[in-house]
Amino acid sequence: MTDTKSSGLDVFAFPGSESAANALARNLQAPLHPITVHRFPDEEALVTLPDRHDADTAVIVCSLDRPDAKLAALLFAADQARCQGINRLGLVAPYLAYMRQDKRFHAGEAISSRTFASVLSHHFDFLVTVDPHLHRYSTLDEVFTIPSSVVSAAPAVAEWIAAKVERPLLIGPDSESAQWIEATAKLIDAPSCVLQKTRRGDADVSVSIPDIAAYRCHTPVLLDDIISTGRTMAAAVRQLVGAGGPAPVCIGVHAIFADDAYRMLCASGGGATVTCNTIVHVSNEIDVMPLVAAAIRALEQDQS
Ligand code: R5P
Repeated sequence: MTDTKSSGLDVFAFPGSESAANALARNLQAPLHPITVHRFPDEEALVTLPDRHDADTAVIVCSLDRPDAKLAALLFAADQARCQGINRLGLVAPYLAYMRQDKRFHAGEAISSRTFASVLSHHFDFLVTVDPHLHRYSTLDEVFTIPSSVVSAAPAVAEWIAAKVERPLLIGPDSESAQWIEATAKLIDAPSCVLQKTRRGDADVSVSIPDIAAYRCHTPVLLDDIISTGRTMAAAVRQLVGAGGPAPVCIGVHAIFADDAYRMLCASGGGATVTCNTIVHVSNEIDVMPLVAAAIRALEQDQS
């Protein structure tokens, strides 16, 4: 490591988030450094940061899908970054985990979002993320004690829909998706509606029958923040197709796709399934990294 510090911002790529880190570094014209994580046979992690950088401010880019497998190594990386002289360290988590566990649904359950946010707040100075699942919390400030910037994928999603879908009708599969549906529909002046969801278990979901008789000439576009088991999307696809409409386009901001979810959703009768590049997946078609880079730039300007 050199003694002279640059005034700019460096980007560190956590394993698995290299493409997002690459895109950010390119957008920010910032130096990019890899973080390596070696797994010992007992699955403990050995984390290494390159010691040849002169960053004073840096971000670690780590999308937090499958968070339990990443968290310890991420914290080791953050602490090592401090040891190497980084004074201001941000976390860019294009997908932020545990936000759906925002209340004690049954007696004895941990409210994971609070603990997760508290641990991250302890190790980082700021957070940038894309469309976190804010449902019962109205802002991240309710759980994070560090400044955060929430990037909305809506402009990128709206641009994709406007370019690819003729006469779109935006449909949210549940009331929680209303915020994304409204923001996106407004940008392209498209009609929209929101269905009602009943979830009886992780993979047991049903949604209400849509009333779309007035939109026979439109292409239904299902939009949700997270596709995890894919059951929410698949239930909505089945209702729409069952109502005699055309196969809906399915758009998710965060492509979690647990187990066989992607295959199951593709086989459910819908049209194209498309996601944003917050989690690397074959369905990524919508690039939100320019928006993330703009948010980082704005945070840096506020700071200076
Ligand atoms: C929850 O309300 C979210 O907005 C998504 O609808 C949900 O996480 C999707 O989960 P799944 O794909 O497992 O049905």
